[in-house]
Amino acid sequence: MIESRHTTDKSFSLFKEAEKLIPGGVNGNIKFREPYPLFLSRASGSHVWDVDGNEYVDYVLSYGALILGHGHPAVLKALRNIADSLGTTLFGNPTPQESEFAEILLRIFMKDGMLRFTTSGLEATLLANRLGMAKSGKRKIAKFDGHYHGANPFLLANYRPKKRGKEGALEKEADSAEVRGDILDDVVVLPFNDIDGTKRALEREDVSSVILEPFEDGYIPAKRDFMHFLRKYTEENGIILVFDEVKTGFRIRLGGAVEYYGIKPDMICLGKIIGGGAPIGAVIGKPEIMELLDPRNRNKVFHSGTYNGNPISITLGMATVSELMEGNNFSRISEAATTLRKLISQTLDEFGVEHRTYGEGGVVNYTLSKEEVHTYRDISDENMKERKRIDSEMMKEGIYLIPASRYSMSLAHTEGDIDLTVNAMRRVLGSGTSSKEKPK
Ligand SMILES: Cc1ncc(COP(=O)(O)O)c(C=O)c1O
Repeated sequence: MIESRHTTDKSFSLFKEAEKLIPGGVNGNIKFREPYPLFLSRASGSHVWDVDGNEYVDYVLSYGALILGHGHPAVLKALRNIADSLGTTLFGNPTPQESEFAEILLRIFMKDGMLRFTTSGLEATLLANRLGMAKSGKRKIAKFDGHYHGANPFLLANYRPKKRGKEGALEKEADSAEVRGDILDDVVVLPFNDIDGTKRALEREDVSSVILEPFEDGYIPAKRDFMHFLRKYTEENGIILVFDEVKTGFRIRLGGAVEYYGIKPDMICLGKIIGGGAPIGAVIGKPEIMELLDPRNRNKVFHSGTYNGNPISITLGMATVSELMEGNNFSRISEAATTLRKLISQTLDEFGVEHRTYGEGGVVNYTLSKEEVHTYRDISDENMKERKRIDSEMMKEGIYLIPASRYSMSLAHTEGDIDLTVNAMRRVLGSGTSSKEKPK
C-alpha cells in the first residue's frame, strides 16, 4: 500500500537550486513539469521514490525505455559483468558484442539490412535524415504534424503547434527558435492518417524522405490503409520511408511497427529499450543506403561518435532484449497492459466518464471522448485539460505518469500495481470536478 501523501518540499528546494545552474532545472525540456519536476532518488522494479520519500507506481519508465522495470536482475548482472570481464567501460574500438547485438536487431527488424549504433534516438533520426538526403540528393524532409523525433533541428516543426484544430494541420510552425529560414523551409509537414492531404503535400514538394512515428505519441496507430498508401507512394516516387521506432520498437510488438503492419520501410530508427537503461540509438537500413556510411567508401556520409557502440549500452541492451524474448515475457507485459486497459475503462464507466482506450503490447492509454482519435488534433482542448487534471491528481495518489499521455508497462508491474492504479483512479474520479461525483 502506498502511503497517503503528499509533500514534495525537498523536490521544490532542489529545483530552486538546480534552476540556477541548469536552465529550467532539467537536462531535457520534456522532463520539465509544472510547477516543478519531481527529483527521484531510488527505484525498484515498477516503483520509484522521490527525494521526499513518496513512493509511486512508475508508468513513465524513463519515457518507455525500461521495459523490464527498474533494476531487473538480468540487467544488473550484465552491468556487473562488464566491470568484471572487460576491465573498462569504453574501448573506442569495435567489440564482438556490437556485431552480436546488430545481428539480433537485424534478424528482428530487417533481415537483409545493415545497422549503425548511435548514442541517442535523436542521433538516430538525424542520421536517417542525413542518409536520406545523401542518397536522394534532395534537401527536403517530410515529417508528420504531431510527431516527435527528438531534438533534431531537421524535424523540430509541428510537434505540438500552438494552432490546434483541423484547420491548422498543415500550417508549419517551428518548435524551436533557431528552426527558421532555410531549415524550416526544408521541413515539409504532413497530416497524419490523412491519405489525401499527405498525397497533396507530397505532390507539391520534392522530398528526400518521409519519417513517421507509426504510433503517434506511442499510442495512436497509423491506419493500416494509410501505412500501405505511404509505402506504395514513397516506393513509386523514389522517396525514402523511415519508421521512427524509438518508442514502438520492442514495445507495441517485439518487432515493433514493422511486425505490426507487416511493411518494410527503407530505414528504421531505434532507441530507448535497446539500451537497457543506457544511452543508445540505432539506424537500420537497406544496404544500398547504409553502405554510404562505409569509411572505405570515401566517407560519402560521415558519421561518428565517441560513445557509439560502447560496451555498457550494448551489453545492457542485449541483456534487456534477450530477457524480453525469453519464454512468454513479452506476452506477460501485453497481458498486464490489457488488464490495466480494461480496468481503467471499467472505472471510467463506473463514474460515467466517456472515454475510449488505446494501446498495443506494453502501452495503455485512454482519451476522454467516445470518438476514436486518429491524431492528437482530434482531442479537444477541454478533454486534454481534464485528462491533465486527472493525471496530476493521480500523481498525488502515487501513480507516476507522463501527463495526458501513454502509460508504459514493464515486466515488473504486478496485479498489485494495477489494483493501486485503479483504486487511485477511483479516488481521483470520486473527488473530481467535471466528472460525475459518485460511482453508478
Ligand atoms: C519517436 C521518438 N524518436 C526519437 C526520440 C529521441 O530519442 P532520445 O531522447 O534518445 O534522443 C524519441 C524520444 O522520446 C522518440 O519518442
